[in-house]
Amino acid sequence: MTDFPGRQNKAVWLDEKSNVINAHGGGILSFDGGYYWYGEHKTEGWEGRLAFLGVHAYYSTDLIHWHDLGIVLKVTDDPGSPICRGCRIERPKVLHCPATGKFVMYFHSTDADHTLARRGLAVADSPQGPFHFLGAKRANAGKWPANAPVCDASLIPPEAEFVNGENDKTRRYPIYARDVAGGQMCRDMNLFVDDDGTAYHIYSSEHNSTLHIARLTPDFLDWDGYWFRVLPYAWNEGAALFKRNGWYFLLMSGCTGWNPNAARGAAAQNLAGPWFEFGNPARGDGAETTFGAQSSAVFSVGERYFAMLDCWNPENFIDSRYLWLELQFPSDDRFEMWNTPYFSLTPSEIT
Ligand code: DGJ
Repeated sequence: MTDFPGRQNKAVWLDEKSNVINAHGGGILSFDGGYYWYGEHKTEGWEGRLAFLGVHAYYSTDLIHWHDLGIVLKVTDDPGSPICRGCRIERPKVLHCPATGKFVMYFHSTDADHTLARRGLAVADSPQGPFHFLGAKRANAGKWPANAPVCDASLIPPEAEFVNGENDKTRRYPIYARDVAGGQMCRDMNLFVDDDGTAYHIYSSEHNSTLHIARLTPDFLDWDGYWFRVLPYAWNEGAALFKRNGWYFLLMSGCTGWNPNAARGAAAQNLAGPWFEFGNPARGDGAETTFGAQSSAVFSVGERYFAMLDCWNPENFIDSRYLWLELQFPSDDRFEMWNTPYFSLTPSEIT
């Protein structure tokens, strides 16, 4: 904690006009000396889990004071559109693509019943939007993973016979093989750019049992066909991928719907693995439920790394709160996350 007034975690966070910040399951794009926060605009009640407006964005130069940019990807009134009002738009993440100059948004695009498991794609000429929806589809149709065998999928039961929470049935079948034809399921998702500028899409797949990491084309608009499975049958959601001192890290949650669970951490020296799981990185009171929150993203400011987490309120989604925690690194291959009441940075630390 510093003297600089920070943000009280889990309190109602207000923007510079004193309106409640509404950007859940979000992520930060650092661009041109400023920070853009994109997230799900939630509304009242249990219904509020559905998308009635779209993706909300905010801009800040200090990560504390936020200017409202409004809804930068709007739902439509066309019932045939994947982003029609009442659909689900979850976990939007945005990258700036140096090759094209465009801003590219990926999000979990699905229906009210959460069955479609597609990647929604939108682009903009400016980080302030507006973002134009380009479509929704599953990942890497026709491509086999780089780290799992080609096998016969003919005996795998159809998708409808599986549930998306932790269970034994999914483990008995190579679900990825079933989904080569139509593309891999994309649920909770994130984006990551490596030191060499190559971008990757990470998402919960195979009914949430297994993460996939898929390399993107240089324009960031598509997968290039190289993808691999990570932590098979570990049932991870809310995955955030980041890199520090040559080590790749994953911050994740378990699969318990909107209820908080113990976070998970993993480290690797190569993206494709092996990944070493080191259990719950949360420390201190409330660590067993990650302080009532679920991971959404990790961003860095200079040498410091911060996790963005959501305290979901399924009875009234608009009243879901934010918890941003600075990560601690007791060694090069581990991170920890302590419960602190404030999120704070001094102005001189903002680059
Ligand atoms: C957990 C996911 O992390 C959320 O984004 C959301 O999809 C809920 N599950 C829905 O139950």
